[in-house]
Amino acid sequence: MITRRAVLAAPAMTFLQQPAEAAIIPLPSRVVRRTGQFIIGNQTRITEAPGAQIEAKWLSSILDCPVEKPSPRGSTVSLTLDASLSSLGPEGYTLDISPTHAALKAPKSAGLYYAAQTLRQLLPPSACGKTGRGAVDWSVPCLQIEDSPRFPWRGGHIDTCRHFLPKDEVLKYIDALALHKFNTLHFHLTDDQGWRIEIKKYPKLTTVGSRRRETRVGHEDMPQGFDGKPYGGFYSQADIREIVAYAAARHINVVPEIEMPGHAQAALSAYPEFGNTGEKLEVWTQWGVSNNTFNVSDKAIAFLQDVLSEVLELFPSKYIHVGGDEVPPDQWKANPEAQARIKALGLKNESALHSWFIGRMNEFLRSRGRILVGWDEIIEGGHLPGAVVMSWRGEKGGIEAARYGNQVVMTPDNYTYFNYYQSKGPKEPLAIGGFIPLDMVYNYDPVPAALNADQARLVLGTQGQLWSEYIPTPQILEYMAFPRMCALAEVAWTPKGQKNYASFQQRLRTHLERLKAMGINYRPLEA
Ligand code: ACM
Repeated sequence: MITRRAVLAAPAMTFLQQPAEAAIIPLPSRVVRRTGQFIIGNQTRITEAPGAQIEAKWLSSILDCPVEKPSPRGSTVSLTLDASLSSLGPEGYTLDISPTHAALKAPKSAGLYYAAQTLRQLLPPSACGKTGRGAVDWSVPCLQIEDSPRFPWRGGHIDTCRHFLPKDEVLKYIDALALHKFNTLHFHLTDDQGWRIEIKKYPKLTTVGSRRRETRVGHEDMPQGFDGKPYGGFYSQADIREIVAYAAARHINVVPEIEMPGHAQAALSAYPEFGNTGEKLEVWTQWGVSNNTFNVSDKAIAFLQDVLSEVLELFPSKYIHVGGDEVPPDQWKANPEAQARIKALGLKNESALHSWFIGRMNEFLRSRGRILVGWDEIIEGGHLPGAVVMSWRGEKGGIEAARYGNQVVMTPDNYTYFNYYQSKGPKEPLAIGGFIPLDMVYNYDPVPAALNADQARLVLGTQGQLWSEYIPTPQILEYMAFPRMCALAEVAWTPKGQKNYASFQQRLRTHLERLKAMGINYRPLEA
């Protein structure tokens, strides 16, 4: 039996900029429809070129077809690395589907993976589920696609500190990112409310720092108080290696975030000697910004660089995030060691001390061949050479960073904080606040008009944030993420001139069936 769900009637050689019926998200740069169908059945064979084994194996699991020599009786899906396509960039690809042959070509393996993801979106939604093709034939419209992303940084951020996300749920989120051709997972691993990554040299970071006594219920101004239930969780180094490898097989780079010098209370509950007061602290049970920051002493800096050394062993990422946001100056003001540092260095104030501190981490990471990433506070005290700035307090920090010549990832809270409400209806789960509906995400442009062409080139891309104070479960995480991450995928991938919200909405209806097949608890459009 041939399932007809993906069979399309269209005139020969129609050029479709927005092939609504093909329902690909994010929309490819160029799609040319042809007549005819390509049938994937039991006789279909996948052929791989050297360097494409991982992608061929993944496609084989989706299509239920073996990777072996073509059969004269069936159709062929071929994966080929082709250096002549290098003008498409390291993530570009072509997909050429004729009645007997689906040819996936790319200059690099990432492009082959994206070609395979596009092919999956030409199949029935069940191709995104666990049941697979079985004995049924799948039919794909013949067409030709040439595609490459608008931005090199297309990310999803998860906060595993306020609420821990079990390893299998992280892997599921990675699969969801991969479906949308995102290539970066920003993994927020340490904060006031929990330390979530095993560090061998400092075991108390997880034996003490990963557990909190209880959790604030509701907003700070609500009367509910605390839930009285202990809470915890962390990733072992083996878990981290598994997550990083799983993501890498899907062409997703995992960028760890180790927060400093603020958002430090969980670490200081384990090792108060690296704080400013020596006070015995507990892992924070409230939301907001704790006053407890790391000291700027040699010993605290050495501790943090020891932690980073283990992090660098686990994460091959060129980019390493050190937070740098929301650092209350109070404890440094009161700490004679911090004041002595300010005096010895001839610094103006605590803000300059913050910049000096981040500068030490920048040198440390640069000397190890990595690039520091931080929230936009890291440039408040001046230029930080070579660092990547995440602009979260609107676009101001990003614009300033690009003017300094820093690369920028646009993560403004008013467009990309998906922990904000997505509708004003009464049925939404309690969120932190804000309001970012789907069309607002879709219409976001990560390149601010204030930048000139040279500065605009410093915008690496964008990502969606899922701060988890009010995201207690994986189901709510998925509800907050989707479909807004679908819209952001198109912001990050599709050429600006080809974006069209009406077309997106139409394609999204089919696309949500894919999310359903993946078991993702997306927010229904009509909710
Ligand atoms: C942030 O939301 N504090 C980066």
